[in-house]
Amino acid sequence: MKIISTPFELKEYLKNEKRTVGFIPTMGALHEGHRALILRAKEENEVVVVSIFLNPTQFLKGEDLEKYPKKDEADKLICKLSGVDVLFFPQASDIYGEDEVSLLAPKVRGYILEGESRPGHFNGVLTVVMKLLNIVNPTRAYFGKKDAQQLNLITLMVKQLFMSVTIVAVDTVREKDGLALSSRNAYLSPQERQEALKIATSLRSATAMVMRGVLDANTIVENMREILAPLEISYVAIVNREFVQISHVELGNSIILVEVVVGGTRLLDNIWL
Ligand code: PAF
Repeated sequence: MKIISTPFELKEYLKNEKRTVGFIPTMGALHEGHRALILRAKEENEVVVVSIFLNPTQFLKGEDLEKYPKKDEADKLICKLSGVDVLFFPQASDIYGEDEVSLLAPKVRGYILEGESRPGHFNGVLTVVMKLLNIVNPTRAYFGKKDAQQLNLITLMVKQLFMSVTIVAVDTVREKDGLALSSRNAYLSPQERQEALKIATSLRSATAMVMRGVLDANTIVENMREILAPLEISYVAIVNREFVQISHVELGNSIILVEVVVGGTRLLDNIWL
């Protein structure tokens, strides 16, 4: 596995690449969810590139940038053992300069749900993903469905800016007890982890309701809120695949999303129905 730390070097390395390139952008602290993205990319491409870059611009003031888990050596090993061809490992100064051109998230879809809890967060996400895609110029880029709004906005960016990369959505990976994998799970105490299981329980219950024919969004959301209580709920919402809130679940076109804060840790999950 080749490790490259500057955009210039990586662009040089890939410039004559004629094979298909699969790209997985990450912020490190890799887990099985990231491995699922890598393995999918390996199945579908001849060359696989992973980036590890803890992007400062997507963290708001007072968020967990400073304490975000860093596992550089373990991450390198995971990438190597997973068959990654190129690991891109830049510093913030390699990616950002002074007086930057910036990319703004859409005013509606970028400022609801996660964007309402974290105003400006998606500006940082879209800007860094745009930069990384321009550096790697991949055939396909892989993102997890757990960050459904991020995935939606990146797909929108690629479409609206007429970019040629294909965005591939990959299913969420869960622990046996249902907890969705996330680098932030490392912050949870055993007691908080136990409380966090209510998220998966609420989504399972919502799915069961839909399977019984209950499609009314308010009824489903109310039931989920009861299951999640007394956790601090940032939002429970039902949207269609365009991220527009809907009053009735449309099978094949809906996402039920939840975000709670457990012991100061923001946890997201969702189910695509
Ligand atoms: O999902 C993430 O890990 C980050 O938001 C991403 C896409 C790597 C951009 O920094």
